[in-house]
Amino acid sequence: MSGLNEWDRLGKVVYAESANQSEKIYSTWAKDYEKDVSVLKFVANDSLVKHSFDLIKNDESSLMLDLAAGTGITALAYKNAGYKGICDALEINAAMMEIAKQKGIYRNTICKGVTATDPVPVQQNSYDVVAISGAFLENHLPQGCVPYVVDVLTIGGLMIFNSRNTEHNANYQKILWEIIEGQVNQGRISLLRSVEAPYYEENCPESGKPMTARVAVYKRLK
Ligand SMILES: C[S@@+](CC[C@H](N)C(=O)[O-])C[C@H]1O[C@@H](n2cnc3c(N)ncnc32)[C@H](O)[C@@H]1O
Repeated sequence: MSGLNEWDRLGKVVYAESANQSEKIYSTWAKDYEKDVSVLKFVANDSLVKHSFDLIKNDESSLMLDLAAGTGITALAYKNAGYKGICDALEINAAMMEIAKQKGIYRNTICKGVTATDPVPVQQNSYDVVAISGAFLENHLPQGCVPYVVDVLTIGGLMIFNSRNTEHNANYQKILWEIIEGQVNQGRISLLRSVEAPYYEENCPESGKPMTARVAVYKRLK
């Protein structure tokens, strides 16, 4: 991916033709991922922590799943903020997962993909927190995975996530909110918090402005 700038490299995974193609591109991008997103002032994880830390169970017995963990900077942001619990990581791409493993912050690292048709491949009903950052967008997590994500939470556990507010992501988000609303209507989850927060602080080429995301926290009820 030489000859491309940071936005170009990011665009390769966001505007890929398929989830499969996006996954392959992460294998090449993994080694430069953290450097590139830091140049673009990727503050998504700081925003996620800022708007959820006061709501999470924070003791040694607390169990967090960093879902679509990438190179591990989501769980790292919680750890840096003082999270005392245990973290597991689930990530589809082996190269990204390898870098996450090297951070030494996870109990278990599971290199598998989340789908819209199968249970998330971890212990069900067991996590106090599932944190999902940078993965509710086109060619990443399928929106239909939401009910399966809820299944891995304890009753009272929290699903904490962001989803970027861009024109390109509007259709994806529409379906995401419909599926989440379905879970709310079934009485499985309730909304604790929803805010618009900074995501990339650099101006993005599509809009000429910094990018924001919706940060949301839902609690499992049953
Ligand atoms: C933009 S990165 C975000 C990683 C990390 N959470 C962060 O904040 O830097 C998105 C990650 O989602 C992973 N991913 C995409 N689709 C996935 C799926 N179906 N199951 C698990 N991981 C997936 C990608 O491989 C990539 O590592």
